[in-house]
Amino acid sequence: MQISHLSVNHLRSPLGYDLREPSFSWIVGESVSERQEKARLQVFLGSDCIYDTGISASLDSLGTELPLRLQPRTRYRWQVTVWGEKGDCGEAESFFETGKMEEAWVGQWISPGERRNAVLEKRFTLAEVPESARIYITGLGLYRLFVNGSPASDEVLTPGLNAYDRWVQVQTFDVGRLLQKGENKLEIWLGGGISRGRFSFTASDGYEYCPYDCAIAELRAVSAGGETVIGTDESWRWRTSPIVESSIYNGEVWEPGRETESGEALACSPPVGPLRDRLSPPVKVVMERKPLRLIRTPRGETVLDMGQNMVGWLRFRVHAPRGRTLKLQFGEQLENGCFSRANLRTAQAAFTWRSDGVSRLAEPFFTWYGFRYVLLEGFDEPVDPEDFTGCVVCSELEETGSITTGHKGLNRLVENVLWSQRGNFLDVPTDCPQRDEREGWTGDAQVFADTACYNMDCASFFTKYMADMWEEQQKADGCVPYVVPFARNRSRGFEGGAVGWGDAAAVIPWTLWLHYGDKTLLKRQLPNMQAWMEWVAARPDWPTACRHFGDWLALDRPEEPAERVGKTDVSFLCLCYAYYSAELSAHAALVLGDRTLAHRAQTLAGVYQSRLREAYFSPKGELLCQTQTACVLALHLRLAPDPEKTRKLLCRLVREAGHLTTGFLGTPWLLAELPKEEAYRLLLREEYPSWLYEVKLGATTIWERWNSLTEDGCFSETGMNSLNHYAYGSVAAWLYGYMCGLRPLAETPGFRRFRWEPQPDTRVGFIQCRLRSPLGEIRSEWRYEETGLSLSLSVPFGSEAQARLPDGREALLGPGEHRFLLPIGTPGKE
Ligand code: BGC
Repeated sequence: MQISHLSVNHLRSPLGYDLREPSFSWIVGESVSERQEKARLQVFLGSDCIYDTGISASLDSLGTELPLRLQPRTRYRWQVTVWGEKGDCGEAESFFETGKMEEAWVGQWISPGERRNAVLEKRFTLAEVPESARIYITGLGLYRLFVNGSPASDEVLTPGLNAYDRWVQVQTFDVGRLLQKGENKLEIWLGGGISRGRFSFTASDGYEYCPYDCAIAELRAVSAGGETVIGTDESWRWRTSPIVESSIYNGEVWEPGRETESGEALACSPPVGPLRDRLSPPVKVVMERKPLRLIRTPRGETVLDMGQNMVGWLRFRVHAPRGRTLKLQFGEQLENGCFSRANLRTAQAAFTWRSDGVSRLAEPFFTWYGFRYVLLEGFDEPVDPEDFTGCVVCSELEETGSITTGHKGLNRLVENVLWSQRGNFLDVPTDCPQRDEREGWTGDAQVFADTACYNMDCASFFTKYMADMWEEQQKADGCVPYVVPFARNRSRGFEGGAVGWGDAAAVIPWTLWLHYGDKTLLKRQLPNMQAWMEWVAARPDWPTACRHFGDWLALDRPEEPAERVGKTDVSFLCLCYAYYSAELSAHAALVLGDRTLAHRAQTLAGVYQSRLREAYFSPKGELLCQTQTACVLALHLRLAPDPEKTRKLLCRLVREAGHLTTGFLGTPWLLAELPKEEAYRLLLREEYPSWLYEVKLGATTIWERWNSLTEDGCFSETGMNSLNHYAYGSVAAWLYGYMCGLRPLAETPGFRRFRWEPQPDTRVGFIQCRLRSPLGEIRSEWRYEETGLSLSLSVPFGSEAQARLPDGREALLGPGEHRFLLPIGTPGKE
C-alpha cells in the first residue's frame, strides 16, 4: 500500500497558509485491498504527539477536520496510517507550517512615499549562517522580494489579487538558504498592481484600496546563538528601480541605466484590510515555450509567433547599444498576415526597454499579457528567436484530467479549453487575460467551474475566490457583485446581482462538493449560498431590480446583432436560477445537518418551481419561452413538467437553426440535454457557429464569442472579442462526463461512487481519459476495433463505479481494471 497526496486544506505541505479548521486528505494506491477499513491520524509538534485520532473507522480520506489549536509560525508533522480490509497497511507523513495567524507584527507598513515602482531595502549582518529563516511579507500594489540579490521564491505577481479592503494576503517564504554570515540585504520591489491602478474597462475607474505603494515584512532567522528578527521600519531605505511605468493593462517601461535616487522609507498607515495568511496556491511560471517562428509581415513588421495563445510574458536577451529603445507589443491574432491588437480595446499591452548598453535578460515584473504574437521594434536584424522565451504564468494547480481521442479537431478543442484555464486562473478566475478587463467575472467562473475541476485540482483556488466573494457579500447584504473581488466603478456604486452571475455563490460550492467531497469546504461556503438565496428571496422584482446579462452572447437574436443579452426572457432565467440556487442550498444544508435551512431552501425552491411552471408552461406542458437555452435549463434543472415535450422542442429548435444558438448560460448543459446523435453532430460540426469552427480557424484557446473571428481570420465587427475566454470551454465537462462517461454523484461525492456511462461514437473512434480524482486515478477508455467496441475502466482504491454500458447493462464496479467487449451493432452505440 502506498499513500500519497497528503494535503491540508487541499494544499501539499503548506507553508504559512491560513490553516484554521484544517482538513486532512490523502490518496491510497498500490493496495491489495479495495477500501480503507480504518485509519489513524497523528499530529506532532517536535516529537510530541499533540493529536491522535486513534484507530478509527470514520476517518475520511477526502477530508477529515481535526480540532487543532495551532500556534503561529510553527511547523507540525502529521502522519496517516491506513489499513485496508484485507489487512494490509500503509503509512505516510507530511508537514504543515502555520503563518503569523493573529500574532502581532514586529514590522510596520512602510512606503517610499509618493514614489512609484521603487525598491525598499535593508542591510543587516548575521553573526552566523542561520539554521532556518522565514520571511512573512506582503505589499501593495504588487511586490517581489529579493534576498542578497536572489529571488526569495519563484512566485510571481505577489501578493495576488483579492478584496484588499477586507484582507491582505500574507506570504511566507523559506529564505534560510539565501542568507549568509556577515552582510545581508533584503530588497522589496514594488509596482503597479490593482490596489491603486486602473482596473476596469471604464477608463477612469480603478481600485482605490491604497493610495501608495507599501510593504510590511518580518524576517526571522534562527541559529544556535538565538533568533534575529528584522521588521520593516523607518530604518529601511528606498531607491528608484529601473521600472519607470508599470500597470496591468498597459504593461511596463524599464530604463535600467537611469539615475538612482534614494531616501529613507516612511512609516505609513496600513491599507484598510487586515493582514491574513494566504489561502490559495502561488502564481508561478508553470511552463516555458520557445517561439514557433519569426514572421516578416506584409507591412514589414517583425513578429514572433509563439504557436500558442498563452498568458504571461516574454523573457529575452538584450543586446542593444545604450540609448536604443526596444519595444514589444503583445497581440492574439494576425489580421491579413499583419500584427493586430484590435481586440485589446484600451490596453496597451506593451513592454519597453530603454537600453543602457549592458547585455542581460529582461522581463516585466508586475504585469501579464494574453498573446500569441509579439511585435518587435528596435531590435537588431536578424532577430534570433532563440533569444526569447515565453513564460506561461498560472496559479500552481495540479492538472488532474486529460482526454485524447481519435478525432484531431476534438483533441485540439480539449487542449484549447485547458489553455484557456491556464491563462485565466491567475489567483482569481478571470474572464480574459489580454484586454482592459481581466477580472473575476462570477458568471464566467460559475459556468466553467465543473470543467475547471475536471482539468485541475481547484479546491484551494476556489476556496480563496469564495472567501473573497463572502467578503463582498457581507458588504452588500448577501448580494454577489458582477466581479469578485469588486471595487471598481466606485463612482457608479455597487454593481451586482445578475442572474447566473450572482449564482456563482451557490454553484461553485456545490461543484467543489461534487468533485472533492470535503465537507469542510461546503461548511465554509454555506454562508455564501444562504446569503445569496436570501438576497434573491427578498427581491420579487429581481428581473428588473438590477442589470442582467441574460444568456450572454447567445445567437438567438439575429435581427439585433449588436444585442448581447440573448433572447431567453430574463424573468425566466431568474426563476430557473433562483430555483437552482435554492435547491443547491437545500442539498448543502442537508449534507451539513442544518434542517431549518434545508426546509427554508426547499420551500423557496418549491415556490420558484410553481411560479415558473405557471408563467412559462402551458397547461399542456408546452414551454412558452422558445429558445434553446430555455429548453436546456428547464430540462437540466428538471423544471419541465413534461420533459419529453421540452426535449422535442429543443431538438426542433436546433434543427430549425441548424446549429446551436446558446450563450453563456445555455451552452454548458446543451449537449447533455440532446439525444446522443444530435449532441455529437453539434460537437463535431466545423461550420460557424460551433466549437470546431474555432479550431478550424486555428484557435489555440477558446474564444469569447462564437464569431470572434470571421472566416478570413479577422476580428468580427461585434466588438468585445477576446480569443481567450473560457466560458464556452464549459463543453469539456460534457466530454469528461458524457463522452468519457465520468460523473461525480451528489450522494457519494468526490468520486467515492461515480457514474460511468460512456457514450461512444464511431466518428470519434476512441477515447482515453485520465482523471486524478481525490481517490486516485480513474481511467476510462473506449475504442472501435474490428472485433467490436471495447471499453475499459480503472477504478481506484476506495471508489466504485455505477456503470451503465452502451448496451444498457448496469453494474457496480469496484477498484481495479474492468474490460468489456460489445459486438458491433450494439444498440445505443450509434
Ligand atoms: C466579460 C464577460 C462577462 C460579461 C458580463 C464581459 O465584459 O468579459 O465575460 O461575464 O462582461 O456581461
